[in-house]
Amino acid sequence: MDLTELQEIAEAERQAQKSIRVHCCTSTGCQAANSLGVKKNLEGAVKAADLGDRVQVVGVGCMGFCGRGPLVEIDPQDKLYEEVTPDDAASIIESLNGGTATANEGDLNHPFFARQMRIVRETSGKIDPERIEEYIAAGGYQSLYKVIHDMTPAEVVDQISKSGLRGRGGGGYPTGLKWATMAKMPGEQKYVICNADEGDPGAFMDRSVLESDPHRVLEGMAIAGYAVGATQAFIYVRAEYPLAIDRLQKAIKQAKRLSLLGSQIFGSPFDFKVDIRIGAGAFVCGEETALIASVEGGRGLPRPRPPYPAQSGLWGCPTLINNVETFANIAVIIREGAEWYANIGTEKSKGTKVFALTGKIRNNGLIEVPMGITLREIVEEMGGGVPDGEVKAVQTGGPSGGCIPASLLDTPVDYDSLVTIGSMMGSGGMVVMDETTSMIEVAQFYMEFCRGETCGKCIPCRVGTVQMYQALTKILKGEATMRDIEQLEQLCGMVKDTSLCGLGQTAPNPVMSTLRYFRDEYLVLLQDSPNGKVAVKS
Ligand SMILES: Cc1cc2nc3c(=O)[nH]c(=O)nc-3n(C[C@H](O)[C@H](O)[C@H](O)COP(=O)(O)O)c2cc1C
Ligand code: SF4
Ligand code: FES
Repeated sequence: MDLTELQEIAEAERQAQKSIRVHCCTSTGCQAANSLGVKKNLEGAVKAADLGDRVQVVGVGCMGFCGRGPLVEIDPQDKLYEEVTPDDAASIIESLNGGTATANEGDLNHPFFARQMRIVRETSGKIDPERIEEYIAAGGYQSLYKVIHDMTPAEVVDQISKSGLRGRGGGGYPTGLKWATMAKMPGEQKYVICNADEGDPGAFMDRSVLESDPHRVLEGMAIAGYAVGATQAFIYVRAEYPLAIDRLQKAIKQAKRLSLLGSQIFGSPFDFKVDIRIGAGAFVCGEETALIASVEGGRGLPRPRPPYPAQSGLWGCPTLINNVETFANIAVIIREGAEWYANIGTEKSKGTKVFALTGKIRNNGLIEVPMGITLREIVEEMGGGVPDGEVKAVQTGGPSGGCIPASLLDTPVDYDSLVTIGSMMGSGGMVVMDETTSMIEVAQFYMEFCRGETCGKCIPCRVGTVQMYQALTKILKGEATMRDIEQLEQLCGMVKDTSLCGLGQTAPNPVMSTLRYFRDEYLVLLQDSPNGKVAVKS
């Protein structure tokens, strides 16, 4: 495979595409609402109307507005249909000949779409994720060609550093710095791992990226392999994501067939092989050292760092671990340049972030927004606010994050601002809560999750999460006193400071943030409530 051949595939694909493409979402969310039935009927209707020479039905990835699925979009007419049923299919095809579609028409100019900036998701919902030719026609694998033929590994690392990209797996560690450390490590064998464990409740960004555009992630991984000197990679993906696994398997096979993965990529000496490893769904296996232990075939237990995986990772070899979304940014940064990317976002948080916007909100789904946008813009403009009443809080960062009160909705969404107010970016879960939500119950929910997911290796986390859960339950039952609140706060500090890995270190965050911003809700349930409002929850 050389550049000419790649361009020929792209051109042949563009020629073969019909002038009207009817995109039907076939990602998990829409499939659950019978989008495959819709797609089948759309195909049948095209055939029945004898429109096959100019109309093509394409199964695409997630379009973002998952709460209104199944979605169907007519390209290039920019028409979107929501909550489409198989019975609507014939009328949608008739509408291409001047008829009227029975399905609800969506508004692509709504801020939900208009305020987005799509880098990671630039082709999600636009191409068939099961056909490499569609990815190539959209410019895919050209960045890989560019780095192999026109750039040294050091120049690639330099571009990623200059872009300001930070890891999207939660911690926000500078990607360029991680790659530079890896590149400097001696050793014949180095590994790349893509972390697709995504265990946060409410999060489905990585699943969607893998289901919608698996080649984008593979291309990013291969560029990383070239930059740091690795020849073997693994994608660690949870077993609960069967569609993502299936599409990844197909994508790897297709890329290998075209010699875009495997040996001597683009006729160069660079070899890069990608294999899938399936996780059994333990949240802690998303932690990088536990993940490595799991890939090695052991129990997924975290270990102390240093040494960091870049120094000693898989089977003791230097290992680069990045998140799905981090890898999905890479090809675009190489294509558009580091400077272009660094102009998006804030001073210390560059680029965009994908969020799963869920909870008590009108518009549920996946959004990709530039860093620095405010929570208010996301929740009120894009999300359309809560259906009844007012926003009470927004939870970001899943079990590691915190609950942000409505009074702080003007906070910009970037790594540092969210930490300052007691939450964190996390991997991208964003749950909106209204006035009917009990913040103590929210804290209890996340603590129950951590209590169940702790690996038990260290005592502060193993015992502390149980004790924090018990304290919250006692408060909710109206059996607690001020002394219990004091002890809960001490416990939070102790677990945070003494736990071995990020799970325990951040598990107290939902409790601490609700105690900070919604203290009255706790106090009113105490037996010796200082404000005299003794209340017992039934
Ligand atoms: C309990 C726990 C779970 C984690 N789960 C994930 C995960 O599902 N996906 C992920 O990319 N990172 C997860 N991380 C963070 C990883 O340890 C690691 O920092 C990340 O994969 C690095 O990639 P990045 O630099 O691209 O963010 C988790 C961390 C902890 C402590
Ligand atoms: S902090 Fe919790 S999850 Fe992490 S090693 Fe300790 S017990 Fe295991
Ligand atoms: S799953 Fe269909 S729009 Fe997201």
